[in-house]
Amino acid sequence: MKILVAYGTTEGQTRKVARFVADRLADAGHAVELLDVDDAEGLDVARFGAAVLAGSIHGGRYQPALVEVAQRNAQALSVRPGLFLSVSLSAAGDDAEEWEGLRAIADEFARATGWRPGRVEHVAGAFRFGEYDYFKGWMMRRIAREKGEAVDPEGDTEYTDWAALGAAVDDWTGALG
Ligand SMILES: Cc1cc2nc3c(=O)[nH]c(=O)nc-3n(C[C@H](O)[C@H](O)[C@H](O)COP(=O)(O)O)c2cc1C
Repeated sequence: MKILVAYGTTEGQTRKVARFVADRLADAGHAVELLDVDDAEGLDVARFGAAVLAGSIHGGRYQPALVEVAQRNAQALSVRPGLFLSVSLSAAGDDAEEWEGLRAIADEFARATGWRPGRVEHVAGAFRFGEYDYFKGWMMRRIAREKGEAVDPEGDTEYTDWAALGAAVDDWTGALG
């Protein structure tokens, strides 16, 4: 099947997630188009049999370009099998309130775009101190400290569970027929 993998990223972790998913789908014999939502002009979702959209959460929202792509293509997306990957740091933990927040953010995305994906997976992201400006670096070091996380203050600290993500993708594609 021809599958679209479209992603929005701010610091790069969701690009890594999307590449992993694209490889997984290609290895399973699918034809994959990997697309940065910042480069989605002229996108025709009708060319694809199924779609994966991925974005990361910053301040409770996904990338505006991702919202726009989902909104603009909601009708075509809604009649195809769809998987939404929501990348965040809250998904790295097990705080019930934070998980409730994640579900509310994904629900708001579905409401705002008009695309209700058949499956939503919350994927743990990463601290990427090399990508932050001074203020973001300060804020993220504080968050890491509050969470009791030992992080590399210069580099990446990744929480993404690649095996779990691969299994979720395999499970989703297994139902595509
Ligand atoms: C400024 C900023 C705000 C963030 N806000 C949230 C948030 O509201 N909830 C959350 O769970 N994670 C939040 N995160 C964590 C990101 O979702 C996480 O680092 C993710 O891996 C970023 O993916 P990306 O590199 O593809 O942009 C935030 C990160 C930054 C830098």
